[in-house]
Amino acid sequence: MIVYSEITAIKKKIKSLKKDLSIGLVPTMGALHQGHLSLIKQAVLENDVVVVSVFVNPTQFDKKEDLDNYPNTLENDLSLLESVNCDIVFTPNPKEIYGNNIISENFDFDGLEFQMEGKFRKGHFNGVGTIVKRLFEIITPTNAYFGEKDFQQLQIIKKLVEKFNLQVNIIPCEIFRESDGLAMSSRNVRLTEKHRLAAPFIYKTLLNAKELFGTKNVEEVIKWVENEFKNHPLLELEYFEIADEKTLNPIKKVISGQKYRAFIAVFAGEIRLIDNISL
Ligand code: PAJ
Repeated sequence: MIVYSEITAIKKKIKSLKKDLSIGLVPTMGALHQGHLSLIKQAVLENDVVVVSVFVNPTQFDKKEDLDNYPNTLENDLSLLESVNCDIVFTPNPKEIYGNNIISENFDFDGLEFQMEGKFRKGHFNGVGTIVKRLFEIITPTNAYFGEKDFQQLQIIKKLVEKFNLQVNIIPCEIFRESDGLAMSSRNVRLTEKHRLAAPFIYKTLLNAKELFGTKNVEEVIKWVENEFKNHPLLELEYFEIADEKTLNPIKKVISGQKYRAFIAVFAGEIRLIDNISL
């Protein structure tokens, strides 16, 4: 495994690879866990060369304290990456990516950016779009892997590829969960003990909502979920939405032939957790 932190060096390496080799890219912000590793393992199976980027992208954080508190576990990340046979790691610093001007590009994602996370995290998806587009330019991957854990992000990346006609296949990967159902996240380690114990309630509620979705109308399901959280002493609901998988528009009525998903964001104390489920 080779680690690069400079763009010119990694570009040179990529250029030296045989033209017919497939390159799999897994963009991450480090603090790696089994969820990330599931993407990387899939990339290893499906590509000749696997590149993992580890970069805490400053422009996608809407709160400075969230950026400042983002866990940095690079040494551990590197040994995990080695253990799953990653070939190349890219660990640039912000200056390498942004120079002295740490700002994002402005994108039009056809409205996907204004739903859910976009309402609560201003500028977030411009930051994500900026770094992912930059990584695609530097690495020129054949395939790039993104988790359904961040389903809105995944749809936005697909839109980015479509809009800029980028030559890369976007591969969606299933949500990887703890044995109690909590979706794995780099933020889980920051939960207090009691919030960690309470957090599996989020996925349990999604599963129940999925069942209710078959028997009740959309409004009733939403009301039911909101009530579940009103009665919860430790978890505070930020949003629960049922939306069309493709447009991410919230729905009022079910139309047959369409695919829907339920999306949720919850505060467990100071820590914001998100999850989603296919309905
Ligand atoms: P990060 O949160 O580190 O996640 C990196 C990738 O791992 C994302 O595609 C995310 O959806 C996926 N992932 C995280 N937890 C997962 C889980 N439990 N199951 C399946 N996949 C999971 O997402 C980002 O970083 C950044 O926004 C990034 C795309 C790297 C741009 O900066």
